[in-house]
Amino acid sequence: MKREIIITEDGSTTIYLPDWNEHYHSTYGAIQEAYHVFIEMGFFFSLKNQQPIPLKILEIGFGTGLNSYITLLESKKLKINIEYTGVEAYPITISEVEKLNYPLRLKASETVFNKLHTTKWEQSSEISKNFILIKRNQFFSEINDKNKYHIIYFDAFGPNVQPELWTEEIFEKMYKALAERGVLVTYSAKGSVRRAMQSVGFSVDRIPGPPGKREMLRGIKH
Ligand SMILES: C[S@@+](CC[C@H](N)C(=O)[O-])C[C@H]1O[C@@H](n2cnc3c(N)ncnc32)[C@H](O)[C@@H]1O
Repeated sequence: MKREIIITEDGSTTIYLPDWNEHYHSTYGAIQEAYHVFIEMGFFFSLKNQQPIPLKILEIGFGTGLNSYITLLESKKLKINIEYTGVEAYPITISEVEKLNYPLRLKASETVFNKLHTTKWEQSSEISKNFILIKRNQFFSEINDKNKYHIIYFDAFGPNVQPELWTEEIFEKMYKALAERGVLVTYSAKGSVRRAMQSVGFSVDRIPGPPGKREMLRGIKH
């Protein structure tokens, strides 16, 4: 499928899929959205209740690597050890990575950002002293982890273009993959998504969304 790199309103890049008229991030701001939905509402929220060592994060859709990069930068500041698993069926190419401006916009290391992409798939790689990355080239439907992760960043394409990824079947996999009191965050606030999450056992809250989006969802495994 054709992919184009475009600039969002906060000056950070994202990828656009013309065939689906779908973006990898909010057009209001890729970095702004990632910070709000995944870092503040997921990562920072989770740290208030638990601080396991290492903190295990599962990302649904590794894509541009933006969420892993920001998590790495923030975990370094907080001196927290992270084991980060990114699942992705359609990895982006190195020439696409080179066109992303996240290191520039975040005033952070380009070498580290590139390393997130150049490390081998299906193995554990130390990106920095406190950050281990495991990239898995697989479909979300193939995830069968159990009681493992403390946080899930659920960042699939929207329910309008990939409804099969926002079903009870997939959320059941997510629920099982989380450890007790684990947290799942997603940018979607759709009623059908909320109901699918609740039906597999999540306690779900509608919480304020990033600029341009009134609400988002956060589920907790109890
Ligand atoms: C909304 S994008 C977000 C990507 C990433 N979180 C980021 O910040 O760039 C969704 C990602 O899910 C991937 N994807 C789509 N369908 C998939 C599937 N069935 N299994 C695994 N990955 C899939 C896409 O290739 C894309 O990278």
